[in-house]
Formats: sequence, structure tokens, C-alpha cells
Amino acid sequence: MRIAVVGTGYVGLVSGTCFSEFGHDVICVDTDEGKIASLNAGQVPIFEPGLQAMIDKNSRSGYLKFSTDLQSAVAAADAVFIAVGTPSRRGDGKADLTYVYAATREIAAALTGYTVVVTKSTVPVGTGREVERILKESNPKADVDVVSNPEFLREGAAIEDFMRPDRVIVGTLVKRAQDVMSAIYRPLSLSQTPLVFTSLESSELTKYAGNAFLATKITFINEIAELCEKVGADVHDVARGIGLDRRIGSKFLHPGPGFGGSCFPKDTRALFETSVEAGAPLRIVDTVIDINERRKRDMAGRVIAACGGSLTGKKIAVLGLTFKPNTDDMRESPSLDILPELVSAGASVAAYDPEGMQEARKLLADIEFCESSYATLENADALVIITEWNEFRALDLDRVKSLMKEPVMVDLRNIYDPRDMADKGFTYSSIGRPV
Ligand code: UDX
Repeated sequence: MRIAVVGTGYVGLVSGTCFSEFGHDVICVDTDEGKIASLNAGQVPIFEPGLQAMIDKNSRSGYLKFSTDLQSAVAAADAVFIAVGTPSRRGDGKADLTYVYAATREIAAALTGYTVVVTKSTVPVGTGREVERILKESNPKADVDVVSNPEFLREGAAIEDFMRPDRVIVGTLVKRAQDVMSAIYRPLSLSQTPLVFTSLESSELTKYAGNAFLATKITFINEIAELCEKVGADVHDVARGIGLDRRIGSKFLHPGPGFGGSCFPKDTRALFETSVEAGAPLRIVDTVIDINERRKRDMAGRVIAACGGSLTGKKIAVLGLTFKPNTDDMRESPSLDILPELVSAGASVAAYDPEGMQEARKLLADIEFCESSYATLENADALVIITEWNEFRALDLDRVKSLMKEPVMVDLRNIYDPRDMADKGFTYSSIGRPV
């Protein structure tokens, strides 16, 4: 199959690269000339394990190309994937579809022969129909079907998730479009990955419903963790106990400082807006959004409490700034709420993150950024772990203690064991576990 992918953001770049790994001829298109020039020079703009190697390999073998020439890429393609950004619109939280519709108009003008136009970006219900309308209006002669094919990959595990998905959702009831999509995903039939065919609308909603459900699951366990703290229970025992019930499942029951990232916050807001507009408001989703936003802000209170009620004149060491490990992504990261609160409570803050510092420097003011974990700790009154990077799991605790002024640790990801920490002489607090 010949595939054009429009937009070389996270989803576009990973999808295009993995389609080329399937053996298809792929051209990834972007309007950003600098980005395309870098990609052609072998520089990958995001940190994602395994991506660079796969891009190098498939660029060398000629299956994967990068270009700013949308017209030629689309004209030659059997399928065009729209993978441009759909950020939250300022003010109302709805998904901003400007880029999707602009790309659609450009694609319309370039179509030749039968082409399947696929929305890969997360788009609200009804977007596929609008894309269809724009294509037909802009190019009435075009022989085209529109398909929704949402992407469920996680950052940090993107290649693995794309190559071994639990399922692929394909929103079209048109037989010949289904055939093209089946051909594209044929390599996954070896691993018996289900291809689920639905209507455009069901497919679009599946993506939002899935993300909202996962965000709800996290928020649920975060609230249970709060209750555990009050009644002396251990949230990990509770999570394991409920997770072994296969109807519940053990994943996404890890408590923390609240979910962040480029998807859950944006998609829960957009889904809620859709539901209100449709006259079926999703009250659970509204509550999840509210609880999560409060939770991120409240985390600073735990640090203040651990330091005896005041941060005035104190130094706080922070490890982990990205919204989760194995990414350089800072979007909606809990650190963006927690650090400013610490600073305004009078603390001086020293921070380190293995991949997120470049981005963090642009987003956080009045922070001393350090070159290593240990450099943040000198003379610190408390250490706060915000992101569970592997390298923070293996700290030399004796060294940590000897560097700090006070051996106080606030572990917002529960990566250490409370008993071990007590044995080591730390004043240790974590989420939802007895001290
Ligand atoms: C998510 C979805 O998992 C993915 O299917 C979708 O395509 C995009 O959104 P991603 O944002 O990359 O992926 O990260 P994910 O691993 O799902 O984590 C999201 C947030 O939830 C992170 O802030 C993470 O720390 C938090 N989280 C996740 C928890 O706090 N507890 C958990 O048990 C799981």
C-alpha cells in the first residue's frame, strides 16, 4: 500500500514509521520545513524509545520518506492519514479542528484515483462526516471514502503499542474502504489482533470513551488512596485485590499525583463538551476532570506538611518533571502545578529530569535546574519525587541522606517501600500507604 501521513507530531510520526515497518510505502508530510529537513537529516524531534532506530532503518531501505509536498504524496496514495494536532481550544475546552479541516481542504485538491482518507488524530464525533463533506464540496469528482481509525498508543511505549495493539478500531461501513484498511493492518493478523469495524461515529466515540474510562480508573484509585490514608489501609493491597477481578483488571490502578499528558486532560474536557452539546452530559467525566485538577494543585500541600507546615527559607529538591517517564513531554504534567506552589510558599526549588529539562526551562520560572539527581539534593530540606523514572528507583539512599539537610522524602509515585525508608532513617511519605 502507498500511504501518506499528514502531520509529523507524535501520532503521525509513530504511525508513519510503523506503517513503513509493516512494509508499506510511506511519505510523512508536514508544513514545517525545518522539521522535515531535520527528519531527512535523520534527526527525530521527539524522545521515544526505539523510534530513531526504526526511522533510520526504514529511511535507508526507502520505505519511509519525509516531505513538505502534500500534493504529490496524496496524489500517489491509496490511503491518506490525517494526524495533525487537535489541541484544546482556549476558553471552551473543545477540540480545535482548524488544522484537521485545513489539511482536509489541501488533501481534497490533490486526490487522484480511489483514496481512503483516514482521521488518525483524536477528533470529536461528527468530524469524520465534516471531513467527508469538505472533501466532496472541494472536489466533487473525487473518488474517496472517509474512515476513522483512532490511535491508542502511549508515549514512551509508542512503538510497542502500535506494533502490538489490543485491537484496531476502523470506523467505516463501506466495504472497499474496509478492504484497504484490512490490507494496511494485515501484518497484525499474524498476532490475531482484532480489527473492529464500526460506523464513523462509533469509532470516534470509542477513542474518547476509552481515554475517559482510563482517566476515571486513575482518579478512582487516587480517591481510594486518600481514603486509605485516613483509615490505615494500603492502596496497593486494595488495588491488587480489586485488579485480580478480571472484570476490573489490574492496569491503570497505580495512584499518583494526578494524570497529565497530551491526551487524558484534553480528551476528557473535549468529551464533556461534546456530551453537553449533545444533551447527554457525562457527569462522571466532569467530576473526574475537577478532582484531577484539584489533586495536582493539592500535592504541594503534602510537601508543606512534610516540612512541618512551612517552606519559608527551605530548599526543596524535585526529581521528575515530565508527566510520566520515558518521554520529554511536559504537557499538563503535575510538576507544572506543584513547582509554582512550592515557590510561592517560599521554597527555593532545585529540579532534575532525565529528558524534560529543555521543555521545563521554558515553562517553569524561578527554578534551579540541575545536571543530576544528586546535584539537586545538596542541603535540601526535602526531596519530592514527581515522576517515576527508573533512575530514581535506584538512588544511593545513603548518599541521598548525607547530601540533604533533612532526610525527608515525599514520594508521589510510591517507588520506595515505607519500611525500608524508615529503616534508612528517612521521614518518608507516599500516596495511600500507612507510614
Ligand atoms: C494515553 C492513553 O493510555 C493512550 O491510549 C492514548 O492514546 C493517549 O493517552 P499517554 O498520555 O501517553 O497515553 O500516557 P499514559 O501512560 O496512559 O498515562 C497518562 C497519565 O496517567 C500519566 O500522567 C500517568 O502518570 C498517569 N497514570 C497512568 C497514573 O497516574 N496511574 C496509572 O495507573 C496509569
